[in-house]
Amino acid sequence: MLSSRIVAPGAADDARASQGMQGAAAGEFGSDMARALSSSPRSISPKYFYDARGSQLFDRICELPEYYPTRTELDILRIHAGEIASRVGPSAEIVEFGAGSCAKVRLLLDAMDRPARYLPIDISGDHLAASAAELRMQYPALDVQPVVADYTRRLLLPAQLRDAGQRVGFFPGSTIGNFTPQEALHFLEVTGQVLRGGALLLGADLVKDPAVLHAAYNDGEGVTADFNLNLLARANRELGANFVLDQFAHSAFYNAPLRRIEMHLVSRCRQQVTLAGRSHAFEEGETLHTENSYKFTVDGLREMAVRAGFRPGPVWTDPQRMFSLHWLHAPH
Ligand code: AVI
Repeated sequence: MLSSRIVAPGAADDARASQGMQGAAAGEFGSDMARALSSSPRSISPKYFYDARGSQLFDRICELPEYYPTRTELDILRIHAGEIASRVGPSAEIVEFGAGSCAKVRLLLDAMDRPARYLPIDISGDHLAASAAELRMQYPALDVQPVVADYTRRLLLPAQLRDAGQRVGFFPGSTIGNFTPQEALHFLEVTGQVLRGGALLLGADLVKDPAVLHAAYNDGEGVTADFNLNLLARANRELGANFVLDQFAHSAFYNAPLRRIEMHLVSRCRQQVTLAGRSHAFEEGETLHTENSYKFTVDGLREMAVRAGFRPGPVWTDPQRMFSLHWLHAPH
């Protein structure tokens, strides 16, 4: 996706991009789902949420009154765009990890002094191409070069332009919170290599009142529940599984010691599910763990960045300290 649309159009863009997939990766969904059903406890990567329907649902989540991260991050970006742009400097190159509709990067590009190049990285080539075409029309002087790749793996990017300013990575949406702590550290280490000598602008959701967190993942309209259950619908559609959706319930709660929201699908009764000719028994109350969404402290995030070789710079937050945007200098 071109602009953080694993996440959002803003927001859905970030998420989808970082977690989306296509084509050959569909086989991976089958093997990961089979592995998840055969293991105990059962858990599967949240990247499988983002098929077309899941991406639409995520876009709706980003607009929900209870889901504060997207609009809070957009506000932070809007308010501090000038200061951030002056850190970015003239003729810079922006590398976005997971791109979608470009809403967030536009705020950045609009504030920047003659942005030279934009490299949106996304696993979904079609979406990326469409977003890139749109962006080229709107920013004729900008060299837009989409990179179809899984940015959680080692990346090969085009060489930096001669005469260009610095290379700045952009990873909004707190998608870093959907990684395990080890994966997050690994992502930062790999990203540090790609951005050598430049910087990373990273969005991270903050630890806060558990009631606010709980509401954000248990919205009144039930969109997050549909988003969670769509994983089973997707398994039925794409893998020929026979999940009965009514027999599973959405569950999301804040695990305070681990500072993360956990999402699960809970079996409402004793039942059997068949996938690829194999039957899997669920007891009543047994769950499939579908997502973790880690919440950070500003200091904790900065410490992790230091461990990955970054030198932390300024941090921008909203007045209620709900969300944070970090400027991290990449290693030389
Ligand atoms: C994409 N990611 C940062 C979202 C989050 O908040 O962890 C995904 C999401 N899951 C449920 N609601 C939103």
